[in-house]
Amino acid sequence: MASRRYLVTAALPYSNGRLHVGHIAGAYLPADTYVRYLRATGAEVRFICGSDDNGVAALRSARLEQRPVEELTAAYNRCQQQDFEGLGIKFDIYGGTHQPRYAKTHEKFSQDFFLKIFQKGLFSKRRINQLYDVEAAQFLPDRFVRGTCPFCGSGNAYGDQCEECGRAIDQTTLIDPVSILTESRPVLRETVHWYLRLDQLQARLTTWLDGKKDPAACGAVWRPVVLNQSLGRIVAEGLPERAMTRDLTWGVPVPLDDPDAQGKSLYVWFDAPIGYVSFTAAWCAESGAGEEAYAHWWKDPECKVVHFIGEDNIVFHAITWPAMLLATHDSTDLQGQPGEYQLPHNVVANSFMNIKFPGKEEEKISKSRGTAVWIGDYLKSFDPDPLRYYLTATAPEGARTTFDLDDFVTRNNGELLNALGNFFNRTLTFAQKYFESKVPAAGTRGTDDKVQLGRCKTAMERAGAELEACHFKAALHVVMSLARAGNVYFDQTKPFHTRKTDLEACGRAINVCLQTCRTLTTLIAPFLPATGQRCAAMLGLAPGWESWPAAIAELPAGQGLSEPVILVKKLDLKEGLGA
Ligand code: 2FM
Ligand code: ZN
Repeated sequence: MASRRYLVTAALPYSNGRLHVGHIAGAYLPADTYVRYLRATGAEVRFICGSDDNGVAALRSARLEQRPVEELTAAYNRCQQQDFEGLGIKFDIYGGTHQPRYAKTHEKFSQDFFLKIFQKGLFSKRRINQLYDVEAAQFLPDRFVRGTCPFCGSGNAYGDQCEECGRAIDQTTLIDPVSILTESRPVLRETVHWYLRLDQLQARLTTWLDGKKDPAACGAVWRPVVLNQSLGRIVAEGLPERAMTRDLTWGVPVPLDDPDAQGKSLYVWFDAPIGYVSFTAAWCAESGAGEEAYAHWWKDPECKVVHFIGEDNIVFHAITWPAMLLATHDSTDLQGQPGEYQLPHNVVANSFMNIKFPGKEEEKISKSRGTAVWIGDYLKSFDPDPLRYYLTATAPEGARTTFDLDDFVTRNNGELLNALGNFFNRTLTFAQKYFESKVPAAGTRGTDDKVQLGRCKTAMERAGAELEACHFKAALHVVMSLARAGNVYFDQTKPFHTRKTDLEACGRAINVCLQTCRTLTTLIAPFLPATGQRCAAMLGLAPGWESWPAAIAELPAGQGLSEPVILVKKLDLKEGLGA
C-alpha cells in the first residue's frame, strides 16, 4: 500500500461536564478505531483532540458550580482525559483551548485566522440590537438567555438554538426572554459584531459538498446524514452571514485595533475548530519539529483531514469550518493549493444514543436528569473492551440507537465471550494440552482447511474495506463472523475425537484454528486494543503484529504459545451500573 498520511480529529468536548457513553459512541470511539486501523495499514497518522473551554457553556457551569471558570475547565479537562485513557482512546495530543499550556498558541492561531479573513473582506461589521441584562450589566450571548421558541412555541429555547425543534434562533426573536444570570427580563441595547460573509462562500461550498456525493470521485465515503443536513440547510435557508464575535471576555479577544472590538471575544464556534490546528502545532512543537510543522498536516494536499463528530456538530464542520478554511485561501480553488489549508477529506458523524436502564423505559440521555452511564462510573467496575465492543456493535451510524444495559451484558456474554473468547480459549487450551503449547504442523491441507484459511483472507479484505469507508459496525460484524466461522470449523473437524484416532488430522485442524486466531488478533485490535494485546501475547507474536497485511501471515509450525488467559470475562450488572 502506498504511504498515506491522515490528520484525524475528534470533536473537542466542552470542559464543563463528565463524559457519558453517548459521547464516546458519537465521535471518540469510531475515531480511535479508525486511527488504530490506519496505523495498522502503515499510514502516518496524528490523532488530535482537547477540550473546548471558551464561551458561554463553561461560564454557565462555573456559575452553577460556584467556582472560577479556569478551575472548572482545568478540572473537567483532566477528568475527560482520564476517561479517554481508561477506555484506551489514545490521542497524540489532548489540548484545551483555554488550558494554560495551549492557550497562547491557540489564541495566536485563532487571531491569525480572524485577521486573514478580515483582510480578505469576508467579515461585515454590523451595529445591531442584542439582549442586555441591566442588573448584571452585561449582554446575554447564546445560552445566557432562555425563552419561548418563535418557531415551535416550546419554552425550552435559548438565545442560540431551540432544544425542542433544533432551529437556530436570533435571540432578539425569543418570546418572553429571561436572563439566566439574574432571572430578570433583558432589554435591547446596541452593540457591534463581525459577521462572516457565508453568502460569499456559498457557491464554492455547494460545489465542494456536491463533489462528496460520489465516493469514487472524491475518494471518501461521506455519510448521507452529513450531506443531507449540510446541503439541505443551504437549499432551505441559503447561507446568511453569521456573527463570529461575542460580548464576552472569556475567550479569544477580537484582534482588531477598533474601539468597538473592546471587551469582545471570538465566537466559541469560531475558535473551537481552530483548536484542531493549534493543538497540532503544539504537538509539533512538543515533539521537536517546531510549531510550523503543523503545515505538513494541514496545508499539504497529500494529507487527508478527517473529522469525527456527533450529529449536532454537522453544520459547523461541513459548512462553517470549511467556509472559514476557504476564506483564508488566496486562490478560489476548492481544494487548497500547497501552503493553503486543506478542506476536510471526510466529516464522519454519528447520531445520539438513547439509554435504557433495567426495568425502565427507554429515554434520552440527559445530563440534567442524570440519565446516563458515565464513563468514570463504568470504569470503576468494568474493563474498557466490553464497552468498546457494545458501542461499536450498536453504533448509531445511520440513526439513533439505544444503550440498553441488559443488552450490553447479553451481547458481551452471548457474542464476544461465546464467539471470540471461546474460540481462543478452546484452541489454545487444546494446543497447550495436546501439542506441548506449540503450533502443530500444518500437514496436508484439505478443502475444508483451505476454505477456512480463505475466510481469514476475505475477512481481512472485507473488514479493511468497511473500515476505509468508516463503516465500523459492519467491519466489526465481519470480524465476529470470522470468529463464529472458526468455532464452526472447530466443531466440524472434531479435534477432540481425532486426537485419539488421527493425530495428524487433529494437528492440521488446530493449526488452521491457530491461523484463524492469528488473523483475528490483528482484526480485533483496532476495536478492542487490550483484547488484541492479550491475543498477541498468547500466540507469542513478535512486535509489529498489528500490521494489517500480516494478519494472514501464517504462524510457523513449532512456534511456542503462551499460557491461555481468559480473553473475555462474563459480566453481571450486579458488579456495577445496575441503576
Ligand atoms: O458540541 C460540542 O461538544 C462542541 N464542544 C464541539 C466542538 S468541535 C470543534 F469544533 F472543536
Ligand atoms: Zn423550537
